[in-house]
Amino acid sequence: MTIAGSDPGGGAGLQADLKTFAAHGVYGFSVITAVIAQNSARVARIEPVGATMVTDQIATLAAERRPDALKTGALANAAVVRAVAQAIREFKLPAPVVDPVLIASGGARLLDDAGEHALRSLLLPLARVVTPNIPEAEVLTGVTIDGAAAMRAAARALRRLGARAVVIKGGHPLSGADRHPGVDRRRLVDLLFDGRAFTECVTTRIAGGGAHGTGCAFSAAIAAGLARGDDLEAAVRNAQAFVARAMRARFTLGGGNGRALLDHCPRGHRR
Ligand SMILES: Nc1ncnc2c1ncn2[C@@H]1O[C@H](COP(=O)(O)OP(=O)(O)OP(=O)(O)O)[C@@H](O)[C@H]1O
Ligand SMILES: [Mg+2]
Repeated sequence: MTIAGSDPGGGAGLQADLKTFAAHGVYGFSVITAVIAQNSARVARIEPVGATMVTDQIATLAAERRPDALKTGALANAAVVRAVAQAIREFKLPAPVVDPVLIASGGARLLDDAGEHALRSLLLPLARVVTPNIPEAEVLTGVTIDGAAAMRAAARALRRLGARAVVIKGGHPLSGADRHPGVDRRRLVDLLFDGRAFTECVTTRIAGGGAHGTGCAFSAAIAAGLARGDDLEAAVRNAQAFVARAMRARFTLGGGNGRALLDHCPRGHRR
């Protein structure tokens, strides 16, 4: 099950989650938290779904079939975050993969301040794993991530907020990246911390700029792996490989910053 916002362009949000689930041979439920009018260039409008409607979607589905795994994406506001946290407890849903989507790549806020507070205090304590990118990890912890040691400190701080495990994604540059001439920028590290060990999942950074919706595909692929019974490290390593494959097959649609789209089902991919 994904609990996320709608990207009508299909590159991110719950549409991308469903494609990612399908690519993994996993059937997907999709609970919508916000209707978003957007294209490759801009987010025109965000209309949050009422919190009780979010609850009702989850309750109605869970009454028939509890999901084997769960991920959350954009949650819009504090009322929706509270409803999701409450539903996870009430319907005994699996501990979620929490993708703490705070700000769209184009700059639009996808969660307001009160929502961010609710996410920190109500949802992170329920998380199987939280998957911030570098700027999100900085906002949630207050740690400036300017190197490997700071990345580990931020991961520890996120565990202290209650998440059972943490993946800090390495897609974005480190803070103050220009001050690190020695850093090998071709090496991308997604750092997994389970409270005991740090595991560096390393891949070669694909050149030519990012693609729209990498974070959604990454967290959805982790959830798909967990649904299939993978352990967390295997699910994270698969997610990294899945996004890389989808990124290599990317194509463009439109003219905005979000015009590079992942191919979630590149020919030959079947897991
Ligand atoms: N250039 C790249 N080459 C290879 N893999 C990448 C690249 N960029 C991102 N990825 C993979 O995708 C994952 C998620 O990307 P990123 O760190 O950009 O997340 P995000 O900022 O949450 O994305 P989004 O903008 O969609 O919210 C990374 O952890 C990494 O595994
Ligand atoms: Mg993201």
